[in-house]
Amino acid sequence: MQRTMVLILLLAACALPPQEVEEPEMTFNIIPRPVHMLPGQGTYAIRPDSRVIDHTGLAGMEFNLEFLARLLGANPSTSPSKNPASGHINFILAPELTAEAYSLDVFNEMVIVKAAQPAGFFYAIQTIRQLLPVQVEDSEHPAEDLVLEIPAVHITDAPRFGWRGMHLDVSRHFFPADFIKQYIDMLALHKLNVFHWHLTDDNGWRLEIDAYPKLTEISAWRVDREHEPWREWSPVQPGEQATYGGFYTKDEVREIIAYAAERQITIIPEIEMPGHSSEVFASYPELSCQGEHIDVRPGSIWPNFEIFCAGNDSVFVFLENVLAEVMELFPAEYIHIGGDEAHKQRWEKCPKCQARIKAEGLADEHELQSWFIRQIEPVILAADKKMIGWDEILEGGLAPEATVMSWRGEDGGIAAARMGHDVIMCPYQHLYFDYYQGDEKDEPEAIGGFTPLRKVYEYDPLPDELNTEEAAHVLGAQANLWTEFVKTTDHAEYMVLPRMAALAEIVWIDPEQKDYDDFFKRAATLGQRYAALNWNYKDYFILLDS
Ligand code: ACM
Ligand code: ZN
Repeated sequence: MQRTMVLILLLAACALPPQEVEEPEMTFNIIPRPVHMLPGQGTYAIRPDSRVIDHTGLAGMEFNLEFLARLLGANPSTSPSKNPASGHINFILAPELTAEAYSLDVFNEMVIVKAAQPAGFFYAIQTIRQLLPVQVEDSEHPAEDLVLEIPAVHITDAPRFGWRGMHLDVSRHFFPADFIKQYIDMLALHKLNVFHWHLTDDNGWRLEIDAYPKLTEISAWRVDREHEPWREWSPVQPGEQATYGGFYTKDEVREIIAYAAERQITIIPEIEMPGHSSEVFASYPELSCQGEHIDVRPGSIWPNFEIFCAGNDSVFVFLENVLAEVMELFPAEYIHIGGDEAHKQRWEKCPKCQARIKAEGLADEHELQSWFIRQIEPVILAADKKMIGWDEILEGGLAPEATVMSWRGEDGGIAAARMGHDVIMCPYQHLYFDYYQGDEKDEPEAIGGFTPLRKVYEYDPLPDELNTEEAAHVLGAQANLWTEFVKTTDHAEYMVLPRMAALAEIVWIDPEQKDYDDFFKRAATLGQRYAALNWNYKDYFILLDS
């Protein structure tokens, strides 16, 4: 029950029978808010002999068992019995629940968690985690030193959307593999389940590709202009060493994928084409329209005209080979091929691109972009995967089975859903976390915009314009962190926390359940948890409101 409802009941107390005002106040600070939640009486107190017992017989439960046992300072064990054991915390199989759903019953004498799949159990554990004092997060003070009690409660819970994502751009600034794991930890606490990894862009290629070693020998590195303004870097001098950058080895990526999978997070890799690709031409200039060497840019001046040549067949050989390695490495059902902000100026002037337009009977360069993407989609479908592109892939005609990521507002997403295509919403107005989240004079330099916590929370991923059938194509939403102005891991944490909490709630609960003031109060407690975890965050909570 929400605080406001309790207040109303208290105000109306004189007119109500006594038992109705005795209902305990709901003070649990869980984000995202569980869908159904009824507080009970008392607590379950962890004892030295408390065990976390897995009765499910499900594969893939080891991590869940260890995670909760470590959090509680209890011993993990398994049991062939289907019945919960009094005195302990029990995982019980409930095949009737959907894959991400769970129920949690905390009694004085035991705890019962029910789910059908490891994902449901994982989300139940994140809920239990938020019912515990924030000190459990502090590795300096292990759980054994704390008196731990879980308040009695009955919860049944399941997410509204299956796509609950966060993006991270690692091209504009590089973030080491250890931070990627921490980012995944951050998603996990918020019950997000997709990490969109923006691995390639003009300022650095970040993924090891065996067939094209120069991508990581050359395209992953740029001359260091970190102390100059991003849009006004001084020209690269002949012979200057490219010292800023980095990339992820395939072994690192495999480790990160496994780390994410334990936390029920799928990683979607993005390989940009046909634009946002000039770093490739530092290694393989023959793939661009002009065929000239280009230094990896140590900043950006927009627009960037460099682009894969759509008239050159070897471009498609290159992209197919790259995608083959990417699709082998990443088990995800989806591959993101970018498609945004591809300037057509080079294509307009390029004889090969113009010849392609003629040969294929295309009307213009927009149709050439669509043709380009339609060459790529079958490569992805042949590997039994699905293609995602930014909403520009609608221009000139959408590839037959493409999923659209709607970033320039909702229009692209609405149009695609009406055409029967799946859609992921990430309109920049609400879900671009590179935007300012406070007064510019008080904030670290950002790319622009203004997206404070409340504006994230106000967003509903389902546009009113869509009918039920069209709305079923909206898979969910995600927020994006572009990193032109985000150089450090501390700063990245600051940009996404606590806005990630608002995102988590809007993709988990129905709009009728949303209540910003109540969310804000819960987010303040979550902020203390971030602090215990040593995660940097914007402290909105010292103010009365955001
Ligand atoms: C984008 O922000 N260019 C997808
Ligand atoms: Zn060309």
